[in-house]
Amino acid sequence: MDRHAQKRLIRKLDLELFVASLQPQPNPQVQLEQYTTPEAIAANLLYLAAYTHNDIINKSVLDLGCGTGRLSLGAAFLGATEIVGIDLDPLAIKTAQANTQKAGFSKKCVQWINGDISAIEGRFDTVVQNPPFGVQNRKADQAFLVKALEVADKVYSIHKHSEVDEHLIKILKSSSGGFVQVQPSPFLEGFIAKSGGAITGVYSMLMTIPKMFEFHRKLRHDFVIDLYLIEKQQ
Ligand SMILES: C[S@@+](CC[C@H](N)C(=O)[O-])C[C@H]1O[C@@H](n2cnc3c(N)ncnc32)[C@H](O)[C@@H]1O
Repeated sequence: MDRHAQKRLIRKLDLELFVASLQPQPNPQVQLEQYTTPEAIAANLLYLAAYTHNDIINKSVLDLGCGTGRLSLGAAFLGATEIVGIDLDPLAIKTAQANTQKAGFSKKCVQWINGDISAIEGRFDTVVQNPPFGVQNRKADQAFLVKALEVADKVYSIHKHSEVDEHLIKILKSSSGGFVQVQPSPFLEGFIAKSGGAITGVYSMLMTIPKMFEFHRKLRHDFVIDLYLIEKQQ
């Protein structure tokens, strides 16, 4: 079956299970901040984009820093018609290719590029991205926002919440995979406006990552991420 012909409403749980079934990054590199997007966060992002804002189904979708393809293949699962993912890491791209084949998506509709995001040109309806937060390379996420707004009118972008907020963490822990609408960080608001975008919503979610790198002291780490919904200003 051509999965792109799929138009029926997909349950969020099925989307989450699909994303969870994809092979993760086999050898994550700290320098590239290769944290895999948890399936609940990927599903929240894609569900909002698809069913609240109509930015996925029958649309062209670009995934900047696609890793193993969780966001892009999730978009394909919901019915995006043209999907492009780009990542610097050849192993991530190889894994994304294997995930595409396993999921049964046609190579015509899903394309992978091994390279820097600066190589991307052209127009897309929507960008979905979980860029490096800029912890290893300061400002790494800013280049992703600039590129996204250069090539698309709608951008769904994940960023680290600007401060540690124990109260927000408590609320998110009790909301079991949900999200809470919050104010944008003044810095990102200014930066996005300067880059030609306007923020239409910011949603906080709890991200939990297992111990992945030597310098991680705890077995798991909870922190808050913010999903920014951005529209290009004409
Ligand atoms: C936080 S990970 C997210 C991976 C994936 N999107 C996911 O949702 O699981 C960020 C990704 O961006 C990639 N990356 C970092 N800098 C890049 C650049 N300048 N150009 C392309 N990819 C880059 C990394 O290799 C990594 O796979």
